[in-house]
Formats: sequence, C-alpha cells, structure tokens
Amino acid sequence: MHSLIYVSSVRAEFGPAELETLTAQAARKNARREITGMLAFNGKSFMQLLEGEQNQIEALVEKISKDPRHRDLIVIRRRDIEVRECPDWTMRSFVVPLDRAGDAKRFSMALPDGFDLDTRLLFTSFGSLVRQQPKV
Ligand SMILES: Cc1cc2nc3c(=O)[nH]c(=O)nc-3n(C[C@H](O)[C@H](O)[C@H](O)COP(=O)(O)O)c2cc1C
Repeated sequence: MHSLIYVSSVRAEFGPAELETLTAQAARKNARREITGMLAFNGKSFMQLLEGEQNQIEALVEKISKDPRHRDLIVIRRRDIEVRECPDWTMRSFVVPLDRAGDAKRFSMALPDGFDLDTRLLFTSFGSLVRQQPKV
C-alpha cells in the first residue's frame, strides 16, 4: 500500500461550507476505492493524506491536481506502508488553525491514533500556521 501527503493553495470562493460538500463527496468516492485519509484546510492552503493501493492513489492525486478549486499541488511525502495510519476515515476534514486556547491540543488529540510521529508533526505544524499581516 501507498501513502501520500500533499499541500496546495486554495482558489477564491472556498470556505467551510464548500469544504463540507467536498469532503462528503470525497468520502463516498474513496470508500469505493478503499482509499482513506484526512484533509486539513486553513483558509489558504490544504494538506491532505491519502492512503490505499498505489495505482488508486496515483490516479486520484492526478485527478485532484487538476481540480480548479486549488492550484500548485506539491507532494511533500510519499511512502510504502504495511498498515494504514488512518483506517477509519474514508475522508475527514478539519478547518485549522484552531486558534482558541487549547484548540491546538484538541486538534492533536483528534488525529487518528494510528498516526506516527512524522505524520502527526506534519499536520499539527500545518494546523498551527497562523496568517499574520506584515508590519510596515
Ligand atoms: C483539496 C481537494 C481534495 C480532494 N480530495 C478528494 C478525495 O479524497 N477523493 C475524491 O474522490 N475526490 C477528491 N477531490 C475531488 C476531485 O478533485 C474530483 O473533483 C472528484 O474526484 C470528482 O471527480 P469525478 O467527477 O471524475 O468523479 C478533492 C478535491 C480537492 C480540491
């Protein structure tokens, strides 16, 4: 089996409602292909984990990379796996940063138990990115 994580940049007019629709549709389609994973969205960028049979993952990431809802997809990690890190979610999404006190910890605790340290660090780092206005 194969595991892939990418980041990409959202295009305009995409928010929590659109994320909900996208995730529900993705979860349904992934179930048919035995693909599991998760998607984090911070208002500007996506980070998604996809895992399953290699040919299914390649075909899906190829399709996702052409989706007009985002651009500049970059695969940041790819590896062969014996066991899924995220076996229970055909797709689940989170809006981050969870910027209220304690939310970073809640996000970390919401991640699947099967996530290894590397995967956990990638998602919690992404989830703690905060956009700041440049000071002039
Ligand atoms: C950030 C992002 C993540 C996506 N994740 C998935 C996914 O996990 N599974 C999926 O089937 N489609 C996903 N899609 C949607 C696909 O790009 C595509 O629209 C969908 O597979 C429908 O394709 P079809 O009409 O050819 O079936 C995602 C799109 C975006 C923008």
